[in-house]
Order: sequence, then structure tokens, then C-alpha cells
Amino acid sequence: MDKLFLPSHYKAELPLIENASKLIPIFITSKIEDLVGFLSKEQLSFASNVGFFDQGCKKVILSDYQGMVSAILLSDEKDLLFKNGSELTTLPPGEYYIAGEVSEALALETVMGFCFQYYSFDNYVSKKRKCEVKLCFPKNLQKLKIYSFLESEFFVRDLINSPSNFLNPDMFENIISLFCKEQKLELNSIVGNDLIVNNFPLIFEVGKASSYNPRLLEFSWGNPNATKVTLVGKGVCFDSGGLNIKPGSSMSIMKKDMGGAASVLGLASMIISMHLNVRLRVIIPIVENSIAGNSFRPGDILKSRKGSTVEVNNTDAEGRLILADALNYADEESPDLLISMATLTGSARVALGPEIVPFYTTSKMFSDFLIKGGEDSFDPLWQMPFYEPYERLIEPNFADLDNAPATGMAGSITAALFLKKFTENAKIFSHFDIYGWSLIAKPGRQIGGLMQGSRAIFEAINQMLLKHKNF
Ligand code: BES
Ligand code: ZN
Ligand code: ZN
Repeated sequence: MDKLFLPSHYKAELPLIENASKLIPIFITSKIEDLVGFLSKEQLSFASNVGFFDQGCKKVILSDYQGMVSAILLSDEKDLLFKNGSELTTLPPGEYYIAGEVSEALALETVMGFCFQYYSFDNYVSKKRKCEVKLCFPKNLQKLKIYSFLESEFFVRDLINSPSNFLNPDMFENIISLFCKEQKLELNSIVGNDLIVNNFPLIFEVGKASSYNPRLLEFSWGNPNATKVTLVGKGVCFDSGGLNIKPGSSMSIMKKDMGGAASVLGLASMIISMHLNVRLRVIIPIVENSIAGNSFRPGDILKSRKGSTVEVNNTDAEGRLILADALNYADEESPDLLISMATLTGSARVALGPEIVPFYTTSKMFSDFLIKGGEDSFDPLWQMPFYEPYERLIEPNFADLDNAPATGMAGSITAALFLKKFTENAKIFSHFDIYGWSLIAKPGRQIGGLMQGSRAIFEAINQMLLKHKNF
């Protein structure tokens, strides 16, 4: 019941085929000229009669003279993201291919939409959904890259969707350890009291009330002399809010609070399988923000790894505390690019809604690559400012820093500013305040976990390396 694959294992599950002899064509166009020569006169007039060319009919299933499905017509009108691809899962069982001249972008969006719609988190349901549609992998797409995109997305969704009674901190470590074994990487883990010994006091404090030990995991990959890219992901396996307990309605989806860690793993998996020329380092603080007699309390003053003290204004602002120690640790070796991904604030959703990821970066050049990378890989994001004057919104009373603003204003920005204080040496620091979840079903995105930001970052790093060799 509790099954979770590693990224590479999802290949076998994908509804894609490489070659087949008898494939049904899918035409994605609304222009009759594109279809003349491919369809019979009768088929063309049928499509016209049902209003495909000018009356808003967006999908037509055509038959041959024997009554068998012989072609599919899909409108190329701009619609919701992944709409066309997701439609393919509802086609009659069969093997299909995208016919005609289709741009790389349209082919990619269609394949992603189809596979994402096909995804289902059915580990815990007895009645599995069935989809007997297979799509031939389009010739104009890069196989390695797209499979890696899809496998990472499935892996990340499974991780986020897994309930916290399965994906507790012990289990999360086990899964990351399997991931490392498969990649022949060494996983370093600092658990429980050893966090104190090794000077990670904030991670320890946040996670100490759980019956599962808090921990810090770390692995590295790649060419030690190449550009140093370090990823840090928030791994809160469940966020109850701590003593500042969340109301039931906000707590109900808090199994997703390890979405940053999951997205970092998805990104790492893409970087590794695409052999980017970087020295990759992944650092994941993992805790459960629980309530017990030994929970950290509002008003507590904690010492961070860096030495600065933090007053706990709100135990529900736990993410920035564990990330502070993890980022500070990552920053000590002065990486070229330091990235944090976290389901950090509710305010990020107020600002941009659940679908667009707000990101912060100290580099104009990297932000340009990110925007372009997001567009190219259908992973929408938007830049937000590290606006220093807002630091006064998080003025502490009795310590060097305060973990939560007293007012509800600019919550995502003040959280990002808090993190930035722990990253002095990194050449570029970028932070992604992701949601990692779809609250309502949309094309290719059923209710539940989502990988956000990772493809955009992958594309940005890849393009930056191609254009500038170094950062
Ligand atoms: N994990 C939450 C943020 C969150 C909430 C992400 C809902 C996505 C959806 C985080 O730990 C949190 O509770 N943040 C607080 C901070 C506040 C107390 C300063 C928030 O955003 O309300
Ligand atoms: Zn919280
Ligand atoms: Zn949280």
C-alpha cells in the first residue's frame, strides 16, 4: 500500500511509447488548410459540420469507413495550460501520435499535459483509475530531458501526496537514502542530539517535540571543480503550527510542508540525469512541527548556527528557522548559486495565488534566465523584491532577530529577508516560496501535490551554463 518509487522507476509507468506500427494521428490545429491532404473530404466536412473550424468545437473524433477511430482533431486555440494534453486521456483506448508540423513548445505542453493528467495518486485506493491511451513520444522533443521532467514530477507529487503517517522524518530519510544509493552517492545525516553537537540548534528546537527525530541530510554530486550549485529544501513532514496551533482548515493540507524538499529532490534528479556540469550539493533539514510538553514556545529566544539570536514570535513560522541553519551551513563554503525552496508562507498565495511561484534573487542575470526557463518549461514564476526597508516589519523585542512579523503585511517578503540574513557568502542567492499543491482540479493537475519551480530553475541553470560557462 505504501509504495513510493524513485524518479527513474516512473518511466515504466508513463503512458508513452517509443514506436508502434498502427498509430492514430492527432492533429492540433484549427486551420482547414493544415488538414487537407491528410483527411478525406467526408472527414473534413464532418469536422466543419460539428463546428470545429469556426464554432468553438475543440475536439473531434473521426472514424474511417469501418467505424474505427482514425484521427483526432484538437483546436490549437490558447486555452488553459495543459488543456489539450490532458484531453488525450479521455480518448478511446489506442495508440496515438501527434501528426503534422507541431512546434517544440506545443509538443512539450501536450506531452506534459497528457502525462500529468494520467498521473494519479492511487496507492491508498482499491479502485484504480484506468487509462488505456498511449502516446508516441514526439520526434522533436529531447528524450532524456522530457523523461527526466516527467519522472521528477511524478516522484515529487508522490512524495507530497504521501500522508504524514507514512512520510514521517524517518521514512523521508529512508527514501532519500534509496535515491542516493541508486545514484551511488553518499548520504550524510545528522540526527537528533547530534544536531546540537554539530551546531544546528534551530533545526533541533523546531523538531524536538516530535516522536521522530529532527535531522539534516546532505549529499553531493558532480564535478568538484565545476560551478558550485547548492539546493536547500524545507522538509517539514507535518506542520501543526506548534503551540501557535493552526486552525483545522489550514492544518488539513500540511503534509505538503515538505514540498520544498521534494521539489529540490526533483530538481536534483533532473540535474543528475541530464549530467549538468556543476558540483551539486543538496541540503535538506527535516522535522515535524509537533506539539508536546517540550515544544519550543512563543517568546523563546533561540541561538542560531550563525550565532545570532532569534526570538520566536510564532511557532508556526518554523520553516525559516530550520532553513536559517541549513542555509547558513550551505553558505559557509561560498557557493556560486545557493537556492532555497520552501512552502514558506501563506502570504505568497495571497500575493500571486497558488499557480505562480514568487521567487527572490540577488542576481538580475539569474532572474532573467528564470523567467525564460519558466516560460519554456511551463512552470510559471514571478520575481518579488528583497525589499530591505521591510526589515523593520520584523523588529524583535529582545533578540537579534524575530521569526515572524507582528503585522500580516508582506509576509512572503519578510520571510525571504529573514533567510537572506543567513547567506552572506553565496555569489547568488535565490529563494522560491512555493505552494506545491493544487487545491482544485485543473488540466494535468488533480487535487494534490505539485512540483513547482524546479523545471524553471533547471532550465535557468542549464542555459546560464551554456551561455556563460560559469556564474
Ligand atoms: N507551512 C506554512 C506556510 C503555508 C501555509 C504554506 C499554507 C502554504 C499554505 C508556514 O510554516 C507558516 O505557517 N507560515 C506562517 C508564518 C506566519 C506565522 C508568520 C504563515 O504564512 O501564516
Ligand atoms: Zn508553520
Ligand atoms: Zn510550515
